[in-house]
Amino acid sequence: KAWLEYPYIQSSAVIECYSPWCSNILTVKQDHPVIKSAVRELTRGIQGMLDIEATIAESQDKDKQACIAIGTFDSNHPLITHTFSEATRTAIGSEGYAIRTNTEKDCIAIGASTPVGLLYGVFAFLRLLGTGQSIETLDVVDNPVNLLRMMNQWDNIDGSIERGYAGKSIFYTDNEITEDFDRLQDYARMLASIGINAIAINNVNVHRFETMFITERYLPDIAKIADIFRNYGVKLFLSINYASPIEIGGLNTADPLDSDVRQWWKAKVIEIYKVIPDFGGLLVKADSENRPGPFTYDRDHAEGSNMLAEALLPFGGIVIWRCFVYNCKQDWRDRSTDRARAAYDHFKPLDGQFMENVILQVKNGPMDFQVREGVSPLFGAMKHTNMMIEFQITQEYTGQQRHVCYLVPQWKEVLDFDTYAADSGSSVKRVVDGSMYGNKYSGFAAVSNIGNDHNWTGHLLAQANLYGYGRLACNPELIAEQIAKEWIMLTFGAEDEQLINTIREILLTSWHIYESYTSPLGVGWMVNPDHHYGPNVDGYEYSKWGTYHFADLQGIGVDRTIKTGTGYVAQYQGANVDLYESVATCPDELLLFFHHVPYTHILKSGKTVIQHIYDTHFDGVDRAAGLKEKWQSLKGKMDDSRHRQVADRLNEQALHAREWRDIINTYFYRKSGIPDEHQRTIY
Ligand code: GCU
Repeated sequence: KAWLEYPYIQSSAVIECYSPWCSNILTVKQDHPVIKSAVRELTRGIQGMLDIEATIAESQDKDKQACIAIGTFDSNHPLITHTFSEATRTAIGSEGYAIRTNTEKDCIAIGASTPVGLLYGVFAFLRLLGTGQSIETLDVVDNPVNLLRMMNQWDNIDGSIERGYAGKSIFYTDNEITEDFDRLQDYARMLASIGINAIAINNVNVHRFETMFITERYLPDIAKIADIFRNYGVKLFLSINYASPIEIGGLNTADPLDSDVRQWWKAKVIEIYKVIPDFGGLLVKADSENRPGPFTYDRDHAEGSNMLAEALLPFGGIVIWRCFVYNCKQDWRDRSTDRARAAYDHFKPLDGQFMENVILQVKNGPMDFQVREGVSPLFGAMKHTNMMIEFQITQEYTGQQRHVCYLVPQWKEVLDFDTYAADSGSSVKRVVDGSMYGNKYSGFAAVSNIGNDHNWTGHLLAQANLYGYGRLACNPELIAEQIAKEWIMLTFGAEDEQLINTIREILLTSWHIYESYTSPLGVGWMVNPDHHYGPNVDGYEYSKWGTYHFADLQGIGVDRTIKTGTGYVAQYQGANVDLYESVATCPDELLLFFHHVPYTHILKSGKTVIQHIYDTHFDGVDRAAGLKEKWQSLKGKMDDSRHRQVADRLNEQALHAREWRDIINTYFYRKSGIPDEHQRTIY
């Protein structure tokens, strides 16, 4: 049940305070399925946390009783009408909600403009109970900041999940769409509870069978999935194969300017909307890692995406076009080609040429979801183009859910990064919430980390990343620590301070710990090829993928400067250019991402690069072992099964961190010949 566990509140004082209100739910007759979901969830939460079977009534008894009143503003619910002022109503957008304690009427009112807003209001109220907040004087007005808050499943019809670390797909088994709708419904509930409103249900790499998702072979079953998610306010999207007109359409081209191709897509979109009338749109990975795309026909990405956008426009559908476009057949000998430059080089010149219902989806960094890399310089660079950010919740490069790595602090850094694209207030979060350039569409997307493992995410603590992603998508101002605390309380209960503080500390230190024993100073990779788990310093050094560290006997790092390197730094704006161009000002943690330096180069910390590598790797292993110890102190404070799950993973992490340490340290000792100042064992 993850954070919808609704653990029973132990404190009788707290129960006494919540119970009177929570015993009665007052609504008005509303058949909307999302409102039904909201009422169901409210009763479920109350049942779990307070052990109360709440009565649900449609009118208030003559003897006024304390209650929770829920209804949309237009529902003529007397308590909603009485509680919320005109000003509050106008302050609530289409997915916002208001919660207010109305002492005069002895009710807590949850109101919204729409059923989805109401559902979010209910989840917010349950969150208040689950985190032990007082509900005596509530006056909450909240609207999600980002328009699109999306989940990308990288699930394949054979049941596998690309970069999935929590079992098999919950959507598909053996080339068919699942019939286990309960599990899907639970997922929909989880997503709605954190404000997710869109989902692309298949991998961006669209293989043979998935190409047929947009045919009658699969569409009726996909419509059933859409039904489930719709009940929780989540719109369904599909990833498509750009070569569909050829592969399933019987045409001999997929050229976006070909009239038959255009006609084919128009007819296809009509067919989709017949089955799923509120279909969200198409997610496209084109000309990326051997996927087909407009380049084959000498067309650019604006021409390529606009063709689809035109077909979707009459239905209000959108095209989400990924910018993960780079040369994946690079010659490692060629030091002038820089994968980090690629997205900007391809897309920036097309600014202003995309239709209004195209959104570019840009990964947070220019490379690929590393534990540390620069922020993509595309954010802020395209004034006339809709843009959304893509994060990776699934921990491909951050420990694959065998290591704990709470990613919210990393995402916060990216969102707060100042692009200097405007005089003030030009942080990434303002680009992707659309406020900086007044975009019609914008938002967040992320690659999901769930599978059919009993606890959803393999590593139980990885649930916090999924939770945190949704919370941040709704409100990027929330702080990482607060989100962690919320997740812990909702999952394990809000009453045990030691438990809360211990898990919070584990989560909040985990990203830096992981970073410290893996690839140093922003250089990235150093993982085993293909599956990307575990250390292999030269695993990608002589490959075609454009992911190199260039370590030799004197030094390490990628020179991306304007003066002597690949020129990537020039893609940034304002003060960022000088900041990264100069070794003297470049932040330590990104030094090797931007510069090639000798091992003896002195960091701002006062250490040499080589000593930093040794120190952080020894320290990281100690701290990883410390995580294990901390978790041990929680034995008996939760059920054994959950305790054991995490204990096992932390044990594995501690052992595997040593593997990382010894391989990395030994590699650099052998390359550089420089001994560790502290004479610790290096092999
Ligand atoms: C990474 C990842 C791939 C994925 C790709 C993408 O390269 O390893 O599995 O397909 O990103 O985002 O498209």
